[in-house]
Amino acid sequence: MRTRVILDTDPGIDDALAILLLAASKEISLEAITVTHGNTSVDKCLANALRLKDFLGLQGVPVARGASEPLVKSLTVAEETHGDGGLGYAKLPDATSSPSPTNAIDTIIELVHKYPHEITILAIGPLTNIALAIHKDPSIIKLINRVVVMGGSVHYPGNMTPDSEYNVYCDPEAFDIVLRAGFDFTLVPLDVTYKCLFTKKHIEKLAGAKPEIIKFIDDSTRFYMEFHDEYQSIDGCAINDPLAAAILIRPELVTLKEYFMTIELKGEFTRAKTSVDFYNVYKKAPNAKVAMEVDVEAFMDFLIERVKTL
Ligand code: RIB
Ligand code: CA
Repeated sequence: MRTRVILDTDPGIDDALAILLLAASKEISLEAITVTHGNTSVDKCLANALRLKDFLGLQGVPVARGASEPLVKSLTVAEETHGDGGLGYAKLPDATSSPSPTNAIDTIIELVHKYPHEITILAIGPLTNIALAIHKDPSIIKLINRVVVMGGSVHYPGNMTPDSEYNVYCDPEAFDIVLRAGFDFTLVPLDVTYKCLFTKKHIEKLAGAKPEIIKFIDDSTRFYMEFHDEYQSIDGCAINDPLAAAILIRPELVTLKEYFMTIELKGEFTRAKTSVDFYNVYKKAPNAKVAMEVDVEAFMDFLIERVKTL
């Protein structure tokens, strides 16, 4: 049976790679793409999601506009990371598809009621839409099968501040609401995603894929690689979001460990830091399944293999 997924996203270069993977995977029934602020403005992210919908022939998938800013803090964008258009050097034709007439929050609520206990929410941007949806209709919390989030870090340094990962930093209050909601909650943190460095070698391995797919991946990730080199002295680019998508299809790619997790909302320097209680100091039941190890080669091979089927 196919896994019914709502993808909440801020495309975004690595978001785009996650959408390519989902589009190439028959195990997934992509019920909706809901768009949030994050890597760039919500309207630029929406335009990119619609472009990708057309580019990948996802005609039956509604794309819904979500939150334009976080719950409490001011808006943060990352155009130095993803480019001012959000897809690096990649240029896709303007979309012919239109956004759904239903906004992201109501799209989530309606789909969860339509498919009780079947929906997996894959969230690869700030969690504002998810937090707003469960605030508007708390009854969906018990009806959502699983929430998988790309975000946070455990031991690995933050990529926004020394202690915070970008998606969590963009809306820490939303992350806290979702973390406390009581979901079957899986976190894919920087600790594993920064082991998944996509390099020029992987571009070469795409030989055999459609030329337009290769060009899109090459043009988008080239910008992303330049960012990682300049700001983090990394060869290649951390493809965070496709790993979170991949574990819906190949759960064996990562090792999940259950922990009681917290997020700091007040620290002058540590705001948006995610922490796990390794030694069960708080004597609290686990609230998160955290991906702590990844089979990098198997993931990269899987991603490249699936992209070649597009
Ligand atoms: O920290 C990485 C995350 O922030 C990824 O989801 C990337 O797309 C950005 O949203
Ligand atoms: Ca993202």
